[in-house]
Amino acid sequence: MDLLRRAIRPSTLYFGDCLEVMREWDRGQVDLIYLDPPFKSKANYNILFGDKTNGKSGQFMAFEDTWQWDDAAVKRVENLKRATGNPASKVIIGMETILGPSGMLAYLSYMAERLYECRRVLKSTGSIYLHCDPTASHYLKLLMDALFIRAGQKNFRNEIVWRMGWVSGFKTLKRGWIRNHDTILYYVKTPSAIKRFNKEYIPYRPGYRRRDGSKPTGKGIPIEDTWNCHTEDVLDSIMIKSFSREKTGYPTQKPLALLRRIIKASSNPGDLILDPFCGCGTAVVAAQELDRRWAGIDISPFAVETVMKGRLRKFGIPVQTRGIPVDLEGASMLAKSDPFRFETWAVIQVPGLYPNSRQRGDGGIDGRGTLLHETEDGKNTVVVQVKAGKVTKSQFRDFLHVLDREKAAAGVFMTLKRDQATAPMRREARSQGSFRMAGSPTDFPRVQFWSIEDWFQGERRRNTLPVLPAMSDPITGKVMQETLWESEPALAGLSQLTDRLVNGN
Ligand SMILES: C[S@@+](CC[C@H](N)C(=O)[O-])C[C@H]1O[C@@H](n2cnc3c(N)ncnc32)[C@H](O)[C@@H]1O
Repeated sequence: MDLLRRAIRPSTLYFGDCLEVMREWDRGQVDLIYLDPPFKSKANYNILFGDKTNGKSGQFMAFEDTWQWDDAAVKRVENLKRATGNPASKVIIGMETILGPSGMLAYLSYMAERLYECRRVLKSTGSIYLHCDPTASHYLKLLMDALFIRAGQKNFRNEIVWRMGWVSGFKTLKRGWIRNHDTILYYVKTPSAIKRFNKEYIPYRPGYRRRDGSKPTGKGIPIEDTWNCHTEDVLDSIMIKSFSREKTGYPTQKPLALLRRIIKASSNPGDLILDPFCGCGTAVVAAQELDRRWAGIDISPFAVETVMKGRLRKFGIPVQTRGIPVDLEGASMLAKSDPFRFETWAVIQVPGLYPNSRQRGDGGIDGRGTLLHETEDGKNTVVVQVKAGKVTKSQFRDFLHVLDREKAAAGVFMTLKRDQATAPMRREARSQGSFRMAGSPTDFPRVQFWSIEDWFQGERRRNTLPVLPAMSDPITGKVMQETLWESEPALAGLSQLTDRLVNGN
């Protein structure tokens, strides 16, 4: 399904889990990746940043889930252990032995999946900078080594120690040493990337002499040697002061000066820069300033729509938003920014249903499906309509007419919110009755409602999907959705679910 085009669209902010977004892209497109994933800390970005999402936005959930040893982590680790084609697999097997079931293993497996995709979308001449802190940098380095080092190639280039600020008020401990640095792991995909490193120099001051009094030769002092110098101008470049004009208030915001250095060193104008965890968009802002093309991903629609778009406004360039919703907020944002893509996305959440390829002209149908077998009265089509905004009773009636016109066995009326399907509409749906498959005693509702709100609340589990018999893949004809309702206990669940989907109970 070509929900996202396979090519990365420059000047685009994608919202969603970067794993899902990157998986949609073709390999070998990006020149430079900078990533600054969530570290283990007690911070809840939304609350800190005053976003009123009751702490339940996709970002919050991602942040919590990343560090929790839960069912998702168990599944992830099991999958990675079987993924023998993924070089990170062996690291995860080793880590499981060392760490056992733990928050750290949950985090590393989460990162292993995403770093694998980063490697895949990077060009062979590309570079990657992974920004992390000492909590996990040593474990992440093992993952990066496994993914990026091939047959002794020197693809691990540097561990950059980035000093975050002065001591005063900065992570001072009552007992123990000061903690005030992050670690940036710098790798290239293949040795050919090394040639592209642009070394920067600060020209020697006029009249500068070496200690022995001789005149210096060469271009100047390599700029990276000054990263941790205690001089005023360097201090500006390593931390955002509270009164700094670039401060957005987004927790974990990194300074533009840091990103400018990385981007200048490892890319050239016109190159494509990707930040898969882009927060308030420091990397994309720096890339835009430096005439690079860029794409950023963040799981938080709030970060994408409000913070990053706001920061990019000053450039006066058209910025696109695209994405894969991971929560109701994201779905609602997609519905507003791109209604057709929202419809497409909603339809393909249900295996066996496929969306219209054209935006208009399918007579009130947004998606269709084909039942694997015929109903008792010889029908096999399922039709779908998707509504993100307000729905009137007469629009719903039109949908019922479409069902008749198409001689459809069943219809699914999809809405963003549950309450868009009103009580009179539900009454009307009930009056449409039910159907049976030839030779089966199970009744399926002819018309049902299905909301994206319910889908996310049910954690996207299979048994919160619309109640439909087995369907076939529209392209290959293979079985797409085995009916869940073949055993006796399942049939008991069916009537409850039907009740919810039709009556809204
Ligand atoms: C440490 S912050 C990045 C800060 C950024 N470097 C800046 O300067 O603003 C990490 C970001 O990753 C996002 N995030 C967490 N999990 C994610 C995922 N699976 N996919 C995409 N973004 C994610 C969070 O919403 C957060 O904004």
